[in-house]
Amino acid sequence: MIEVRASDKHFLGMPAARFLRDYWQRKPLLVRQAFPRYQAPLTPEDLAGLACEEGVLARLVRHDRKNDRWSVATGPFPESSFPKLPKKDWTLLVQDMDKWDADVRALLDHFDFLPRWRLDDIMISFAAPGGSVGAHVDQYDVFLLQAQGRRRWQIDVDPTAPREFREDVELKLLKQFKPSHEWVLEPGDMLYLPPGVPHHGEAIDACLTFSVGMRAPSHAELLSDWADGLLQHLSEDLRYSDGDLKSPKDVAEIDAAASERVLEIFRRHVPGNREEAAAFFGRFITNYRNAVDIAAPPRPPTLAKIESQLAKGGRLESHPYARWAWSRDGNGALVFVNGRSFATTPELASRIASGRAIGSDEYHGSGPEHRALLHALTNQGYLLLAAAPGRK
Ligand code: SIN
Ligand code: CO
Repeated sequence: MIEVRASDKHFLGMPAARFLRDYWQRKPLLVRQAFPRYQAPLTPEDLAGLACEEGVLARLVRHDRKNDRWSVATGPFPESSFPKLPKKDWTLLVQDMDKWDADVRALLDHFDFLPRWRLDDIMISFAAPGGSVGAHVDQYDVFLLQAQGRRRWQIDVDPTAPREFREDVELKLLKQFKPSHEWVLEPGDMLYLPPGVPHHGEAIDACLTFSVGMRAPSHAELLSDWADGLLQHLSEDLRYSDGDLKSPKDVAEIDAAASERVLEIFRRHVPGNREEAAAFFGRFITNYRNAVDIAAPPRPPTLAKIESQLAKGGRLESHPYARWAWSRDGNGALVFVNGRSFATTPELASRIASGRAIGSDEYHGSGPEHRALLHALTNQGYLLLAAAPGRK
């Protein structure tokens, strides 16, 4: 089945375990009314307003249908650019909207059947009628939620479909695209696509589409990051060595003993067990493709200030661009945030990495070492001290 209807119990139209078994990373799925009668928490004007702000990743894609020419501009855009746009055939796309809007971020809770660190961002697009970004493939799983207006989606499930890109366009558009399926999505409908499925979504009405995108680093990115980290600590004195050398039978042959020595060098430097792998991967994945570096605040709040604000109902909130994860490490744990790791207990690591705000009770309920970690994370800008609502 490629099309299902959501139920009150299952927004994917089936238990998450079934979705993971049968669809995740495998097959597309259209879920009718995954978010029944969905009301977008922001307007196209809000999106256009954000696309004018410094630090926002925004793109404007225009299509000249007559000549089949495409143009892409990147933001921030001057406010004057929007009233000048034609009535048709353009799309504004803004990345990382979950960092800018708490209501958009709240959508992510529905995706808790996936590890949070696997989620990249929510991109929101606004398209004028006819607007699209052309037929393409993405390398990541994506959930495309229709949030306002209608969009026609076409996909091709043929695994042998050609994947060559057009050379004449800045966007990675497919040279050929022969859809096997076509649907019109209404607000609340959601299309899941695994990586590599050719797709094309064209606005029927002016419409908003939310893309919940995943992150999957390439092996090349992962290994190159690992090697970069390793090289910083490896002494030049560590060399290929062969104190056990026997005179070779063939002077040109890289024989079994030499190959084994090389293998041994690799073995010596790669993670030796799951904990070491997790310690590396936690730092790597929480730093991967982050658009914003979190800087330590110039004047971090003192411990006294933190405690007095919490006592008045304030909270320690996660920085919107903080990406958390944790892993077990012996009897303890590591909590990761944007490429850093901190040692603590599994309980606190899990609690902090949930990204939920921490209030006075929890703060005082924890021991001095835990409070020191919360303080360190606040000093470095990953946690932000927020006053109680309505207070300064
Ligand atoms: C869009 O929202 O216009 C494009 C999303 C996608 O195809 O991945
Ligand atoms: Co896409």
